[in-house]
Amino acid sequence: MVKRIGLLTGGGDCPGLNPAIRAAVLQATQLGHECIGILDGWKGLIQENTRPLTREDVEGLVGQGGTLLGTSRTNPYKQEKENGVARCIENFRKLRLDALVAMGGEDTLGVAAKLHEDHKLPVVGVPKTMDNDLSATDSTFGFDTAVTIAVDAAHRLLDTGRSHRRIMVLEVMGRHAGWVSLFTGIASGADYVCLPERPVDIRDMTERLKAAHARKGVALIVASEAIEMPDGSRKEEKLDEFGHMILKERGVAERLTNLVQKETGVETRAAVIGHIQRGGPPTLFDRMLGTRVGVQAIRYAHQGQFGVMVALRGNQVAAVPLKEATGVLKTVPPEWLELLDVLMYPRPQQSQHRHNDPKAVSSR
Ligand code: F6P
Repeated sequence: MVKRIGLLTGGGDCPGLNPAIRAAVLQATQLGHECIGILDGWKGLIQENTRPLTREDVEGLVGQGGTLLGTSRTNPYKQEKENGVARCIENFRKLRLDALVAMGGEDTLGVAAKLHEDHKLPVVGVPKTMDNDLSATDSTFGFDTAVTIAVDAAHRLLDTGRSHRRIMVLEVMGRHAGWVSLFTGIASGADYVCLPERPVDIRDMTERLKAAHARKGVALIVASEAIEMPDGSRKEEKLDEFGHMILKERGVAERLTNLVQKETGVETRAAVIGHIQRGGPPTLFDRMLGTRVGVQAIRYAHQGQFGVMVALRGNQVAAVPLKEATGVLKTVPPEWLELLDVLMYPRPQQSQHRHNDPKAVSSR
């Protein structure tokens, strides 16, 4: 039986979405199904805003960032005045859809899980997020590209910082999980990494930065946008429709820069890479992952397997219940923090103890 399959992308865009859309459309067409693009995430389903999606429409998408379908952070469960949820169900029927493939992160897939549970909406989820914080899958596309760009930015900051003998602060996105800062910090050889999973110890940070600056004439801190400021300062918090803090308004880089300059006495500059991380051509990894999960989502829809998300488990794509996928945020576990500590140069007195003066350790 020919099926009409709706496709939508919700939440923050990320590189890998276009390859996933392309793969889904090509697989659907090959199975004899028809694809309808729903524009701007759940907003498009509420407003019945669609476009056709044929093979021709998706040609060349594999190397493009962004999403052909547009996106939004609209939450139908918060659109009470417009009867958001009821309109989604009604328009799904009006559009004569047999299945819906929703590509998104925790929020978009959380709505998909609820619509499936509350209204039996035949939905398949595709995980995407540059934050890499979805727990039921080993990886999400978008992350690899975002970190690759951030690592490049870090090296550029090191070049200019070295020339001016400065400390440089790079603020990266990633929301309440520190994966982006962790991977950026490790892969760029940063001297200090601040992530939400571990409170920043001002003394430890200052000593390491001063030592690094003394050794190399430059030092780099990679900081996640979601860290608590080590001096305890807070800013007023604004929330989006999903109840998430709008993190870019917290000004982490600027505030950390002032603190570091004050504590170290070294001239310090900040850069916020922000949305640059979310644009540009997807890396090979993100193209391949997007392609694999896009194809598999259509296969599940074809088989009538709904209420699931296509996860990457090891090197296999597999179905996991949508509810499981959106239940818990995947944050950085202690073993990753231990690895990070191995890769950061020890504080001066630690290295002295270890290499020069064994007695100093026992006499502490
Ligand atoms: O969730 C992806 C993400 O890029 C986060 O890392 C960041 O905090 C947020 O989206 C930014 O959202 P917006 O594009 O709405 O400013």
